[in-house]
Amino acid sequence: MEFLKTCVLRRNACTAVCFWRSKVVQKPSVRRISTTSPRSTVMPAWVIDKYGKNEVLRFTQNMMMPIIHYPNEVIVKVHAASVNPIDVNMRSGYGATALNMKRDPLHVKIKGEEFPLTLGRDVSGVVMECGLDVKYFKPGDEVWAAVPPWKQGTLSEFVVVSGNEVSHKPKSLTHTQAASLPYVALTAWSAINKVGGLNDKNCTGKRVLILGASGGVGTFAIQHFWKGVHYRWAFFMASGPCLDDIAELVDAGKIRPVIEQTFPFSKVPEAFLKVERGHARGKTVINVV
Ligand SMILES: NC(=O)c1ccc[n+]([C@@H]2O[C@H](COP(=O)([O-])OP(=O)(O)OC[C@H]3O[C@@H](n4cnc5c(N)ncnc54)[C@H](OP(=O)(O)O)[C@@H]3O)[C@@H](O)[C@H]2O)c1
Repeated sequence: MEFLKTCVLRRNACTAVCFWRSKVVQKPSVRRISTTSPRSTVMPAWVIDKYGKNEVLRFTQNMMMPIIHYPNEVIVKVHAASVNPIDVNMRSGYGATALNMKRDPLHVKIKGEEFPLTLGRDVSGVVMECGLDVKYFKPGDEVWAAVPPWKQGTLSEFVVVSGNEVSHKPKSLTHTQAASLPYVALTAWSAINKVGGLNDKNCTGKRVLILGASGGVGTFAIQHFWKGVHYRWAFFMASGPCLDDIAELVDAGKIRPVIEQTFPFSKVPEAFLKVERGHARGKTVINVV
């Protein structure tokens, strides 16, 4: 119960999160932007300019570099990303209306303003720049995250995420391995812990039915398994603090990544086709660096 209470505190209260993430780092007094190409304002990325079949995926060297809009944001250099079913679905326009409302609640912008849109939810990489209020991370830190679907995605050289969405990468994993986990792990975590209310203290003797156990979410959930007489809906939630807990399980050897196939950054469309074909037996990862 204490564990659950802690989780609720961590998720709901920003101040509680800051208190809990007490390993505050010393930051230099002057902010420095340090990227691989310091004078560049553009970066390589896979984008879409309209919704549709795989042909809408377009590689560009000229995607605008992300910038920090809020003091709690960090820019991450992407070393590895992954392709999830949501990326294939978003490519086809899934959730576009709802996501656009989240991006632009007052409908200030014109239709199609989300383009060029970068897909990709998972990232494992290195912090390049921190907003002024970011106390838990510093440039050079190796981190992992799952980026919410209303934000620009990770199939690009850099991505900007909130400090509360990002977490230090498990030390025992490579970037390729780490990029396979955040989105599916947080979905399974949301279902099992947050919605199911199950944890390592209260699951003895309970049984859990996991459908699709050979896929991305399933391969995580089956390792983390835990009873469902009733069913309730669960959704992915971006959460750095939950990823901190998951990183501990990974480094303790209790969770391991299950990767079916890796693709180089140049082969992102092939990776989408593979995920779209279904029958996953693990994750599809993109090596960006
Ligand atoms: N709501 C959310 O927040 C959220 C978040 C993440 C994922 N999801 C959804 O959850 C599902 C699983 O995600 P994932 O990342 O694990 O996908 P995945 O990696 O593609 O795996 C899908 C798994 O489902 C199995 N499957 C497909 N059709 C099935 C059926 N009719 N009956 C039983 N099993 C079936 C597949 O195996 P076979 O094809 O070999 O049977 C495979 O093991 C997807 O639909 C995804 O969109 C929702």
